[in-house]
Amino acid sequence: MAHIEGPKGVPDYYPPVSRRFDAVRGHLVGAADRAGYGLIELPMFESTELFTRGVGESTDVVSKEMYTFTDRGDRSITLRPEGTAGVMRAVIEHGMDRGALPVKLVYSGEFFRAERPQAGRYRQFHQVGIEAIGSDDPALDAEVIAVGHEGFSAIGLTGYRIELTSLGDAACRPAYRELLQSFLDGLPLDEPTRERARLNPLRVLDDKRPQVQELLTDAPLMIDHLCADCAAHFAQVRTVLDALGVPYVLNPRMVRGLDYYTRTTFEYVHPGLGAQSGMGGGGRYDGLMAELGGQALSGIGYGLGVDRALLAADAEGLEVGTTARCEVYGVPMGEAASLELAVLAGKLRAAGVRVDRSYGGRGLKAAMKSADSSGARVALILGDRDLAEGAVVVRDLVSGEQRSVPLAESVDAVRELLA
Ligand code: HAM
Repeated sequence: MAHIEGPKGVPDYYPPVSRRFDAVRGHLVGAADRAGYGLIELPMFESTELFTRGVGESTDVVSKEMYTFTDRGDRSITLRPEGTAGVMRAVIEHGMDRGALPVKLVYSGEFFRAERPQAGRYRQFHQVGIEAIGSDDPALDAEVIAVGHEGFSAIGLTGYRIELTSLGDAACRPAYRELLQSFLDGLPLDEPTRERARLNPLRVLDDKRPQVQELLTDAPLMIDHLCADCAAHFAQVRTVLDALGVPYVLNPRMVRGLDYYTRTTFEYVHPGLGAQSGMGGGGRYDGLMAELGGQALSGIGYGLGVDRALLAADAEGLEVGTTARCEVYGVPMGEAASLELAVLAGKLRAAGVRVDRSYGGRGLKAAMKSADSSGARVALILGDRDLAEGAVVVRDLVSGEQRSVPLAESVDAVRELLA
């Protein structure tokens, strides 16, 4: 029969790479946990309207990349393409915004975008994200940026930069948008680009074609047209980042792919990733909650790409997580030994030691080979003679030294070797 393949553009993670994936995710969640963000688990599908209203109909994410279907109750459902809109929906629905502010949440999970697959761009990918809702204190912006930086640093990553800008707010962006629009109107742009400019002129700034970039050399930039409030806010964000020693570069041409951003926006960019160099990104979204029917509260957050952080760790040649499947590998010789070893493995696992063992009455040579490839530090070899003596051979797989230990003392002997 023909075999069935996995969906296109979706990575499978299996050992040993899955252990690296898990460690990367753990570091990113850990950094948020240390800063007081509480875990939120949300559905992977929501009503389509949440994203059309929240993320914006003119964005590529909503107009071209959503997995949308009609469910059995004739409702339009979408697999979540991002996490912020869902978090906002849940905060409003459960009245989390009626308690102490800011509400600080962290999530880790799968997101879905029907993009053209390429290296680092998948149709199902994993993000660790945080959202802090209900404060526009610039110190919070700096905290969010710093927590992402701590997560990547905990993995050991060094070869990325933090890009930062401010997109202004409802007071200053409309006037800037008009200014940019009239600047673009005066350029010899092709019709599709002109159409893009009409939909959202800011997005043209992100055009990758050199001939277009050349035309844009003198384009007006939002950062030079911030209102006094936004300029002061942005200056304070930078003051706190400087005090924290978080390095960043200004990129006033940064264009984020989602419509809800206001004021502070940022990206973690890793050049080692090639074309898909965005390892994470985020920003403030001061109008989103009201747009979704909640109070007019401001918020800020980010989404960090776990898949891409893992690729970046590969590019930097980092060891992440443990490569060993277990710490101890049991090698029983014979049926009685197999039973005794099952009991011993249970005791070791209860003591917190990671144990695997060989099965099916394999010979010593084959079983020892498995012990080596498992990455275990210690082998427990149990033959009939050992059993008769009430002992087990404890072998240090690194030094090659081994000794016979009474079964009753074996758990302690193993833990001593591992310590
Ligand atoms: P985003 O920039 O669309 O932001 O995605 C954040 C990160 O998710 C990207 O920097 C990238 O690492 C990863 N990512 C996105 N698409 C893909 C893909 N197709 N394949 C692999 N990785 C991908 C957001 O999603 C916002 N919700 C972030 C945010 C939270 N802003 C405020 N709060």
